[in-house]
Amino acid sequence: MLTGTNVGCDTTQCGACTVMMNGMAVKSCNVLAVQASGSEITTIEGLKTNGKYHPLQQAFWDNHGLQCGFCTPGMIMTAMDLLKQHPRPSEAEIRHGLEGNLCRCTGYQNIVKAIRAAAEM
Ligand code: FES
Ligand code: FES
Repeated sequence: MLTGTNVGCDTTQCGACTVMMNGMAVKSCNVLAVQASGSEITTIEGLKTNGKYHPLQQAFWDNHGLQCGFCTPGMIMTAMDLLKQHPRPSEAEIRHGLEGNLCRCTGYQNIVKAIRAAAEM
């Protein structure tokens, strides 16, 4: 059973449920199973390769980009999409890209720092 993807609001507001669908970040609470049928879905569990964290996961770890961790899988999946579109994002681009993801612990400063560090990697 995969437990990384969280349901926070179930109303498309928090981003905790974000996964990659065909390479694009989507809020999975807003996707019907029939819409996802035949699609390639990647959850946070799919990022680690050969026992090594993905650079984004490592950067969140190294930069204390999480507190309780509830929002973290969604933040990381959104950041994956963001870095695909903006490999060297400015702070403003990161903050804009994360607008659909809420952190109830309000650790935004270090989340932004972690994404910048991942972009450096
Ligand atoms: S659970 Fe909050 S956006 Fe999907
Ligand atoms: S780390 Fe707790 S909700 Fe973001």
